[in-house]
Amino acid sequence: MTVTAGPGTVPAGCRAAVAVVLGTRPGIVKLAPVLHALAAARVPHFAIHSGQHYSANMDQVFFTDLDLPAPAYRVGDRRPGMLQGEQTAEMLTGIERVLARERPALVLVGGDANTNLAGALAARKLGLVVGHVEAGLRSRDWRMPEEHNRVMIDHISDILFAPSRHAKDTAEAEGVRGHVLVTGSTVAAALRSSLDRGGNAANRVTDPHQADGHLPGHSPGYVLVTLHRAENVDDPAVLAELSAGVCALPGKLGLPLTWPLHPRTRARLTEFGLLGDVAGAAGVTLVEPAGHRAFTRLLADAALVVTDSGGIQQEACILRVPCVTARTSTEWTETVEAGANLVAGVTAAELIDGCLAMIAAPRDWDDPFESDGVPAAQRIAGVAAEVLEAAG
Ligand code: UD1
Repeated sequence: MTVTAGPGTVPAGCRAAVAVVLGTRPGIVKLAPVLHALAAARVPHFAIHSGQHYSANMDQVFFTDLDLPAPAYRVGDRRPGMLQGEQTAEMLTGIERVLARERPALVLVGGDANTNLAGALAARKLGLVVGHVEAGLRSRDWRMPEEHNRVMIDHISDILFAPSRHAKDTAEAEGVRGHVLVTGSTVAAALRSSLDRGGNAANRVTDPHQADGHLPGHSPGYVLVTLHRAENVDDPAVLAELSAGVCALPGKLGLPLTWPLHPRTRARLTEFGLLGDVAGAAGVTLVEPAGHRAFTRLLADAALVVTDSGGIQQEACILRVPCVTARTSTEWTETVEAGANLVAGVTAAELIDGCLAMIAAPRDWDDPFESDGVPAAQRIAGVAAEVLEAAG
């Protein structure tokens, strides 16, 4: 008779080590505190980089800013114009080769990028134990590649580390097979570390308004913008609306605006002939993507952030910066309920109205991701140590 192993059973022949799969900007941020906690608890581990993000300012600077050693492995082969499936397949193949050789007792992925699906799927196919950091998030927007990834990763994971009670309930209501644990969010620790290390003048110069010192009467006094979601920037009509809304904000709010441009967004603005208008708009300063220390400082000091990023909605809530989400849905409903975030929509008028409403929001909400004592990364490292013990 065949005995079916339950979720989380470590198969024979595994070695007592944790593989941590990362490779995108947000994944490095989420998993940095976990890597530090594993090191502090002397849990044997190694990192596999998927190669999804590769530019120095989307990748290397995050290792430097978050004090991480170079990953043990780098896989994946990025070529311009790759389709999502092709990109995921390249990473799946590369990660699987490493995992098949190393056979770690536990594989951790963090977030919802293609990297995480590739890592979780490679581990699942090899019968390894899979842990998903930041499990149970749903936007209910089925156009988003990240939503497909979240659903798939949660359903093939053995251990789901939920950042909130709400996320745990969501995963359990879907009937996931793995064990769901509420750990709080790992991101707060990464924010604290970057603010501690980045709170000096050298890191503030990435904010051109502060560098120039032209902020009479406003401290803090600028709007920060980030946009990169495929369903926003790959659609010419949506991107035209959003960029028109963004360009109108300095006039409507009486505040300058800083926009670190994601490579995807720069490419689409150029392709759709919109870059010139945006670059020339009064009060709008386009800058390169910032590293984690500089970006965290920029976010913490902003009067308001406009974003379509998942991570930044959560980070703004933790840092008590009002957030306007340029989307029609969010996976971070806790931030909306807390009064920290408004999901405005994607037309210029909706964006402007949302900003006018949120700029005046009182910044006194309770942080819904506060952990009750033990930091999230430490809890995750503790569970990892237990899995390794079970592996013998
Ligand atoms: C990905 C993730 C998203 C995450 C985001 C953070 C998926 C489906 N999406 O979106 O969840 O919030 O990362 O940034 O995985 N590029 C560069 N340099 C880089 C990385 C990318 O020039 O270092 C270019 C790529 O060649 C591509 C474009 O930017 O043309 C988009 O990159 P991609 O990795 O496909 O997705 P993101 O939009 O970054």
